[in-house]
Amino acid sequence: RKGGFDHYMLKEIFEQPQSFYETIRAGIDDNVRQMIMGADEITLVACGTSYHTTLIFKYLAESLCNISVRAEMGSEFKYFVPPLRGLVIAVTQSGETADTIAALKMAKARNCSTLAITNVQGSTVTRVADSTLLMRAGPEIGVAATKSYTAQLAALMQIVNLRCERAFDDVLSHAHLAIGDVLLYDVRDAVALCSKADHAFFVGRGAFYPVAMEGALKMKEISYVHAEGYAAGELKHGPFALLTPETPVVAICTPGPTYSVMASNIKEMKARRAPVIALGVDGDKELAEIVDIFIPIPNTHLLVQVLTASVVLQLLAYHTACVLQRDVDKPRNLAKSVTVE
Ligand code: M6R
Repeated sequence: RKGGFDHYMLKEIFEQPQSFYETIRAGIDDNVRQMIMGADEITLVACGTSYHTTLIFKYLAESLCNISVRAEMGSEFKYFVPPLRGLVIAVTQSGETADTIAALKMAKARNCSTLAITNVQGSTVTRVADSTLLMRAGPEIGVAATKSYTAQLAALMQIVNLRCERAFDDVLSHAHLAIGDVLLYDVRDAVALCSKADHAFFVGRGAFYPVAMEGALKMKEISYVHAEGYAAGELKHGPFALLTPETPVVAICTPGPTYSVMASNIKEMKARRAPVIALGVDGDKELAEIVDIFIPIPNTHLLVQVLTASVVLQLLAYHTACVLQRDVDKPRNLAKSVTVE
């Protein structure tokens, strides 16, 4: 049933080109399209990995299409309900996460229009929300979310595309190819560093900050290496005290407005003797020279870099967990869906 893979998680990582492509191909129906086009403000609610996709959406939608977006954690929302207007979107691959559903019910009670983005047709969230945008990831067995995460991004990136007058049609219809290109990456050197560490940092800026948070979540949940996802500029406001030669920092540094400030952050980390594993674009020799391990991702559009960087971080967590002989598909103390608040 694992299709020749050692674990479901690896199988599911490898299914991502297809699940991403299928989710893009399924598109957005007219009803959902109208909801999205009519919304002045969008609030998203989610938990865990799904929350990270909503943060990525916020960065992309605000910077690329100038819409006002709020991303809220389901578990907090219920107790500290923000002022709500417009469209509220619950993002939950299982469709059963209690905190996310409770938040959506509260939004409904406040007369917001509600949309569910989920992988499971007929799940509880689909019965609560006014409409559903279904991801096409197929069943995900591994507790760690992988293909459901990128399928959520496929759904959310389509919303960005819609609000940007379909400026990214071409990018999105080819993104699965770039995901396929990174699946066989050799991340052994980075794995060797992480598997010896007790603590690691994952850092990025802009949309790569939640990508880093997700990389850290994957690392800690399946390898049990303590990992923190941080906005790169925040490390010097406290966490620098934790940097040692035994504390790897995984930094995502791709071309764009934050490239040079990221590069100087990396130099500051190196000056504190932390080994740096950098994800940068293919051919970035300057970056490769200042870090300990350089992992090149394809030099493509921002939307695609978000996907490929995420997949590389999934591989890093997966192989680290394998080296440490963890129960990759069923990490301790965790359940696939959290149905209590
Ligand atoms: O089913 P959901 O997307 O609502 O689940 C939310 C989280 O429990 C989930 O994303 C969790 O963080 C991941 N399985 C971690 O890999």
